[in-house]
Amino acid sequence: MLLHVPRVLTETQVARGRALLDDAKWVDGRMTAGHLSAKAKHNLQVAEGTPEAREMGEVIVTALERNPLFMSAALPLRVFPPLFNRYEPGMAFGAHVDNAIRQVAASPLRVRTDLSATLFLSAPEEYDGGELVVDDTYGAHSVKLPAGDMILYPATSLHRVTPVTRGVRLASIFWVQSMVRDDGERSLLFDLDMAISQVSEATPDNPGVVALTSCYHNLLRRWADA
Ligand code: NI
Repeated sequence: MLLHVPRVLTETQVARGRALLDDAKWVDGRMTAGHLSAKAKHNLQVAEGTPEAREMGEVIVTALERNPLFMSAALPLRVFPPLFNRYEPGMAFGAHVDNAIRQVAASPLRVRTDLSATLFLSAPEEYDGGELVVDDTYGAHSVKLPAGDMILYPATSLHRVTPVTRGVRLASIFWVQSMVRDDGERSLLFDLDMAISQVSEATPDNPGVVALTSCYHNLLRRWADA
């Protein structure tokens, strides 16, 4: 499932993040790429664990924890500390699949990447090109979102960033280990949760809401690792 999560960050948070990134130390993006994706990757990245990356990462993770759409869709167990990347004209990232397991820098913690996320920090009118293209069973989806919005997609998907031809594209990327590792099961739970919200809003006293909610929790109990 490919999901657009709007307004993860406020305008003020985006502005603060961009000011932090202006002061950050940028390094070659191949530092964190796997052996194969290093050949396809051409961008800049804030060095992992720097104060700027840590501060902005915490803002993002806190915002995510308060975002009901993200919580329902991702059912997160662990969120990888957000990385920050920058594409200038001529930079791109060819087709690749993200590494299955990521080690958190300077920590014994590992994250299984069930979901990949891109949070846009540049407005679409600030640059040309730089679309995130995600392949799924229904074909290729081209994504370019307002600053502060995020796209969430299965980390099993082949994806790429098309060359930037004007301006600068700033984004945060990270991964989520979900309590429900299977994308099909997780999508079903998300659809059920959204349907329950619709029914309970339309007919709050409908006894079916309690029955459906109990189905939701019993399926979650069956499929989740917490
Ligand atoms: Ni990737």
